[in-house]
Amino acid sequence: MKTILVASQKGGAGKTTIAKNLSVAASAEGAKVMMFDMDPQKSLREWYDQREADEPVMPGRDPGPKELKKAIDTTAIHGFDYLFIDTPPASDAWLSDAMKLADLVVIPVRPSPTDLRAVRATLTSAKSAGTDFVFFLSQTTRTKMTDEAVRALAARGKLADVNLALRVAHAETDMDGRSVIEGDDPKARDELLAAWAYVKEQL
Ligand SMILES: Nc1ncnc2c1ncn2[C@@H]1O[C@H](COP(=O)(O)OP(=O)(O)O)[C@@H](O)[C@H]1O
Ligand SMILES: [Mg+2]
Repeated sequence: MKTILVASQKGGAGKTTIAKNLSVAASAEGAKVMMFDMDPQKSLREWYDQREADEPVMPGRDPGPKELKKAIDTTAIHGFDYLFIDTPPASDAWLSDAMKLADLVVIPVRPSPTDLRAVRATLTSAKSAGTDFVFFLSQTTRTKMTDEAVRALAARGKLADVNLALRVAHAETDMDGRSVIEGDDPKARDELLAAWAYVKEQL
């Protein structure tokens, strides 16, 4: 089993969005996928509660930081192919330990000066954990700021070759527990499938 942890100290960066959409992309390929929501705000779980499709799945209760290792081991024993972990907007000490348990850390970043500055804390955690990490530019528009963000992030680590553009399809599908992969915007769908293909290459 491969464990992908989504992290960013910034709220609104796109963590929950990327976690649920990559989970659905993996599941749509026939993989057995589990999701944990470790954010006390429970946005991923609320989305999941709206969802009609049976997969991907979540546990009855999300593990707390101290229960995480055991929960990962149990998930692996049950034959899951992938586990996605959504996390709170923080750089708490436990998060770095959680990163150590993951195979890959996915860090979504909005193309704004504030968000780029805030990347440092998440980056420090990922580096101290020693786990591979990748940046995704999230909620991008076709502006010079996005081009600058590409340069800034590529200089700090591995940057995904696909940006998750700002698209209304996210809000539309979010309402009823779907992914953009299950929506009717082909650009949003293709982008997410490309993002998943990129993540798989890194695993
Ligand atoms: N690519 C995108 N296009 C449009 N809206 C987006 C996109 N990514 C995220 N959002 C929206 O931005 C808000 C914050 O995203 P979210 O994934 O919840 O961030 P986080 O989990 O990092 O706090 C949500 O309302 C979400 O629907
Ligand atoms: Mg979130």
